[in-house]
Amino acid sequence: MISKKMEEALNEQVNAEMYSAYLYLSMESYFRSLNLNGFANWMRVQTQEEMMHAIKIYDFVNERGGRITLKAIEGPPTKWKSPLAVFEAVYAHERKVTGLINNLVNLAVEEKDHATNTFLQWFVNEQVEEESSADEIVQQLKMMKNAPGGMFMFDRELGQRVFTPPVAKGE
Ligand SMILES: [Fe+2]
Ligand SMILES: [Fe+2]
Repeated sequence: MISKKMEEALNEQVNAEMYSAYLYLSMESYFRSLNLNGFANWMRVQTQEEMMHAIKIYDFVNERGGRITLKAIEGPPTKWKSPLAVFEAVYAHERKVTGLINNLVNLAVEEKDHATNTFLQWFVNEQVEEESSADEIVQQLKMMKNAPGGMFMFDRELGQRVFTPPVAKGE
């Protein structure tokens, strides 16, 4: 059984993951308005991943005999000044989420909750990837300095990203 404190903290993280999904869906909408449909596709995949993160935590809390109580999701920003500004915001957001995950790990260690600690290691690794892919796109956008030809090619490349649903867990 999970402690009340850990349960509450994981509930907060479900909200944070849902907010991430909401933020990236808002970014998708921004890219759609610019007809950058490859960038928009990248954001759609990102949104799906964040929703999957939320569900992963949701299932874990239930599995441990805890209870999920959903709260309001904050409204995300709706406008950015450039594609670069969007990805700088993605990078900053993912660094913030890494901080939240690290705090959860610290709490699990404090509570001597080994099962939650082990569960969270997947997120620790995921955040390394999340930060590095956001930073990579920031660097690439800086290099092309919004040159139209470069943006066109890059849009096509980001359009290739596909969401891979997690493999269902056997009972
Ligand atoms: Fe996430
Ligand atoms: Fe993320």
